[in-house]
Amino acid sequence: MKTIDYEALLQQAKTILANNWTGAFTKPAPHLYPHQWNWDAGFIALGHSHYDMERACQELRSLFRGQWDNGLLPQIVFQAPAAGGRYFPGADFWQTHTSSEAPGDPITSGITMPPVHGFVLWELWQNSGEDPQLIPFLKELFPKVKALHEYLYEYRDPMHEGLVYIRHPWESGTDNSPTWDEALARIAIDKMKLPTYERQDLQHKKAAAQRPNDSDYDRYIYLVDLFRRHHYDEGEMEAHCPFKIQDPLFNGILCYSNECMAKLAELLAEDPEDFYGWHAFTRGALNEKLWNRVTARYDSYDLHQQALIPTYTANSFIPLLGGVPDPQQAQRMMATMMGTHVQERDDIWNCPTYALDQAKVDFQKYWRGPVWININWMLSKGMQRYGFAEDAQLLREQSLELIDTFGFHEYFDPRKEQTENGYGTDGFSWTAALCIDFINKNK
Ligand code: GLC
Repeated sequence: MKTIDYEALLQQAKTILANNWTGAFTKPAPHLYPHQWNWDAGFIALGHSHYDMERACQELRSLFRGQWDNGLLPQIVFQAPAAGGRYFPGADFWQTHTSSEAPGDPITSGITMPPVHGFVLWELWQNSGEDPQLIPFLKELFPKVKALHEYLYEYRDPMHEGLVYIRHPWESGTDNSPTWDEALARIAIDKMKLPTYERQDLQHKKAAAQRPNDSDYDRYIYLVDLFRRHHYDEGEMEAHCPFKIQDPLFNGILCYSNECMAKLAELLAEDPEDFYGWHAFTRGALNEKLWNRVTARYDSYDLHQQALIPTYTANSFIPLLGGVPDPQQAQRMMATMMGTHVQERDDIWNCPTYALDQAKVDFQKYWRGPVWININWMLSKGMQRYGFAEDAQLLREQSLELIDTFGFHEYFDPRKEQTENGYGTDGFSWTAALCIDFINKNK
């Protein structure tokens, strides 16, 4: 392991978060992502909580200002256009004002993202050293997070089986994961009927190789257009959406947030029963329906095809975070991971987001192979939980080494032979925030 000047790295990370602060929240990156994003805000709050709890609270407050009346917590909360810079699809495109559930101010997108917020609140409480001064904030946020979980179980689990589905790849947070390829390919695109649009994410010259393809983008836009034509009516979207997938990352995170919210409920003298119930329900369903006993991974499930999608991404290991597998399953998952993702190898940075033995692995392309720091963070926490302390430590150390060597990028090439590494945007907030958390945990 390379020697790292942790103090210097910490200062750099704080500077990045300070530079991305808008006055109301921290944007994910200086230019590419000029608004507030849902799970980014959660990870960013974690970073702040180590040195500026007030800001961590502001981050979440700002995000929850965008919560819909039905409990949906949107993927994006938009800044005023003048402040926000150029982003597509922006506030105008989503037309969420056509839904009676959406807040008028702020304007938001009309889909959600992985529900990290329950566990983020618990982390804040831990990082505060269980400071009673944080209790009023936890009390303020508790019913909002509960409303989000109620939304998910009410509208995204149509068969009441304990598994929540995503209806857009952006809801997974892992936009162009190979797991979505077939479901997306089944959506026939009629270019004449697709709204015209111009991507804003291909501004720098290498972007095309590192970001989703145009054919993916057509389908992303097709889905948004479908939702807005139905005015975000839950029943209509449920009936007409061609993309409905139960993803182990989303549900694994939900499990962990349920568990943390139950603990918070006990702390705040609120009723924990719903959360205990949801935790057991989703844990059982993940093991019943998504566990692949042959490959020792959690697969995704396509509700249209009524079939599992073999899942070779790191998403399939996130249930470790939520305490989903039993110890034997966890042991087998680790063995699988050692074979295809995480390993003490001289040539690979851990943990690639797609299995190295898969033909479709692409070391530069977004969620189809590169290392993302939030995935490393969730995996290392899951490993720690099951007693795989050395593997957890390896992920923490490799994340810090990657950042220290190449900078605070959005994602990284898993091949160590790449001497110019770091893709997407630089100055990426969750890379900085989770670097701060890793350093604090490494102390
Ligand atoms: C990309 C990522 C998503 C993230 C967003 C903002 O869309 O795929 O996970 O939330 O950028 O950083």
